[in-house]
Amino acid sequence: MKSTVTSEKAASVKSSCVILGVFERRKLSAAAAQFDKTTRGLLKKILSAGDMDGSSGQTAMVHYPAGAKCERVLLVGCGKPGEFNGRAYQKAANSAARSVNASGADDAVSYLAELDVSDQTTYQKVRTLVESTRCAAYTPDTLKSKKDKSVQPIRHLTVGVDAGDMVSARKALADGEAIASGVELARTLGDLPGNICTPSYLANQARELGKSSTRLKVSVMNEAGMEKLGMGSLLSVSRGSRQPAKLITLKYNGGKAGQKPVVLVGKGVTFDSGGISIKPSPTMDEMKYDMCGAASVLGTLKACVAMKLPINVVGVIPTTENMPDGDASKPGDIVTSMSGQTIEVLNTDAEGRLILCDALTYSGRFKPAVVIDIATLTGACVIALGSHAAGLLSNDDDLAEELLDAGKSAGDRAWHMPLWDEYQPQLKSNFADMANIGGREAGTITAACFLSRFTEKYRWAHLDIAGVAWKGGSEKGATGRPVSLLTQFLLDRCAN
Ligand code: BES
Ligand code: MN
Ligand code: ZN
Repeated sequence: MKSTVTSEKAASVKSSCVILGVFERRKLSAAAAQFDKTTRGLLKKILSAGDMDGSSGQTAMVHYPAGAKCERVLLVGCGKPGEFNGRAYQKAANSAARSVNASGADDAVSYLAELDVSDQTTYQKVRTLVESTRCAAYTPDTLKSKKDKSVQPIRHLTVGVDAGDMVSARKALADGEAIASGVELARTLGDLPGNICTPSYLANQARELGKSSTRLKVSVMNEAGMEKLGMGSLLSVSRGSRQPAKLITLKYNGGKAGQKPVVLVGKGVTFDSGGISIKPSPTMDEMKYDMCGAASVLGTLKACVAMKLPINVVGVIPTTENMPDGDASKPGDIVTSMSGQTIEVLNTDAEGRLILCDALTYSGRFKPAVVIDIATLTGACVIALGSHAAGLLSNDDDLAEELLDAGKSAGDRAWHMPLWDEYQPQLKSNFADMANIGGREAGTITAACFLSRFTEKYRWAHLDIAGVAWKGGSEKGATGRPVSLLTQFLLDRCAN
């Protein structure tokens, strides 16, 4: 999809679809009111006819509006004007995007960015439009022999803004396109099945990404290399798998030489069967999504490349399968991590932390400004926060604040959970330095407590994305979260 900005007015613009906002009690937005005048009260008539009343999320498509130059006009319900904040705007943008991408229209001109939104700049509003339109155009049909025809993505999006906002709107379009391409990559990789998206496949994807820019250098370590570094914890997870584990490193040098990098560590379990502590069968297929942390790191780096962000970022991806096998780890096995600390593997299904701990120790090599790991780590996080917020735990409150803010402004939120010392004793083992599980209580926190024992030398935050990385049920599919949050975090760091 291509995108451009215009300051031309809605009623005179030539397009296959003009998109306008309307509020509750049939209140028209400024652009809609002007359009209504040119079309002799058409919009007011539609609203009076009861086709829609302007409530949030509603849409109505009208063809060949007499008096206007477009083939269609799409009315988008925005709810109460007084409550029209960033979240409500995002909702309206999403419904508009779904509707226009299902309509058969070839292009669209959206005037939603001209709406007054309490906590949003023009830049933010325009970016949301591009991202939501691209997002609605995504269909996971690469492996279907007949393509999905229910979605017919528009080929061109034009965003209407005031003449004075053209410059910031153009920047927003470019950034929005870049972030959308990162989100798309994360979704595509997430949706691929475990028999295709293996650790080696992810490594090749990283290498491909490396070819897109001279600023990005990619290297892949094999199991022999990990053995040399003493990554006994990571290797204990891949023992049961026929697919060799990989440790992928992507170095993006956009900032000054010597600037300390932001290190992003993504859990890349390409299929999590649970190992010997095998999972129950229903919905086990969804454990193909256990590499969504890794996918979000690749997606974020793709966005960095596209935006040419002036910052140094390192992506570290430990990737493996977790499978049952005669050679797999057994409950009670004790392994030695790269840090030298020993771990009693009481449950082979708590494998994410076992691969992350070695990747986190390894990350210390890059003399990081901060390290953020992203992982589909605990089912407990889905119970605690559902699918709306990622769990955020950190050894540094300022870093946590930065991430929370980035999530809020990108519409990709996280929620801060405590990492108090009081939880640490739950990891006690009689035979090793620690156990890999902490019992039934506070599962998300004890998982983070485990990781915290490997991150004492730097500022670190952990995002548990188990609830947000994909949707289950009839809408099963990857979301691409938290690429937007992470990219926003990096953008904000560049600005400050
Ligand atoms: N990948 C899972 C976490 C998960 C489960 C994410 C369900 C999304 C939905 C992780 O490897 C895991 O199995 N965690 C265990 C930890 C437990 C054994 C302490 C869990 O959450 O059940
Ligand atoms: Mn598991
Ligand atoms: Zn897992």
